[in-house]
Amino acid sequence: MTMLHIDNLNVWFGSGRDRVDAVKGASFDVGAGESFGLVGESGSGKSTILRAITGLAPTWSGRIAVDERTIEKTRARAFYKQVQMVFQDPYASLHPRHSVDAVLGETLQLHGFKDIDARVVRLLDDVGLGQKFRFRYPHQLSGGQRQRVAIARALAPEPELLLLDEPTSALDVSVQAEILNLLADLRQEHGLTYLMVSHDLSVVGHMCDRLAVMKDGEIVEIMDVADLRVMKAAHPYSQHLLQASV
Ligand SMILES: Nc1ncnc2c1ncn2[C@@H]1O[C@H](COP(=O)(O)OP(=O)(O)OP(=O)(O)O)[C@@H](O)[C@H]1O
Ligand SMILES: [Mg+2]
Repeated sequence: MTMLHIDNLNVWFGSGRDRVDAVKGASFDVGAGESFGLVGESGSGKSTILRAITGLAPTWSGRIAVDERTIEKTRARAFYKQVQMVFQDPYASLHPRHSVDAVLGETLQLHGFKDIDARVVRLLDDVGLGQKFRFRYPHQLSGGQRQRVAIARALAPEPELLLLDEPTSALDVSVQAEILNLLADLRQEHGLTYLMVSHDLSVVGHMCDRLAVMKDGEIVEIMDVADLRVMKAAHPYSQHLLQASV
């Protein structure tokens, strides 16, 4: 089954002389339960694809379908029950004056859950934080702990698809592996599908089944991670990326 279907996606910003074509004719499918990577140099359009899916990039054309339902330009609440995004920077994505309890509680309420208390407890356990963090504020947490809270918030609506935009690149190297392992475990436990952006080919090699290589807004190649591991890329640009990453 296909969880995410992207067909001939174009995303642009501005108009006239200021127009930037950030994504041009991108097409790929992500199967249910699959982890799919997006790699490519800075500015190649990786984040823009995630933003278009989640409704943060309003000007786009083409087709986006989640769980075989075509996405309209304005997304209903039900969409965010199914699709959630985790951003690169947990410092920017958490409100400084909202406690962990408030962040998770509000999200749960928004999605119509009633057993909020029990769910907050469970979410904190799911991301390996535990109850002692429940009433802390973001400034009382480390970068890795904040990202765990951001992941808990993303999990709160019980989504099927997580969009992960460089979820560990703002973190200290020592905690990056911890968060990646947590994400890998959560995918297993919750049967999640991932679309994950990373600069780091070794991260994608560890976390993903397949990946798309982007350059200047276009997908130049879609490959299996097995091919990444043996450095077998068809497109010269992918070969260049692989060689640069050794
Ligand atoms: N809001 C915006 N207005 C105008 N241009 C934008 C906007 N957001 C992104 N862009 C442009 O779109 C292109 C793709 O940006 P995007 O953020 O998707 O790249 P990226 O591949 O995620 O890069 P990075 O690896 O640095 O995060 C860039 O040229 C960028 O300058
Ligand atoms: Mg980006």
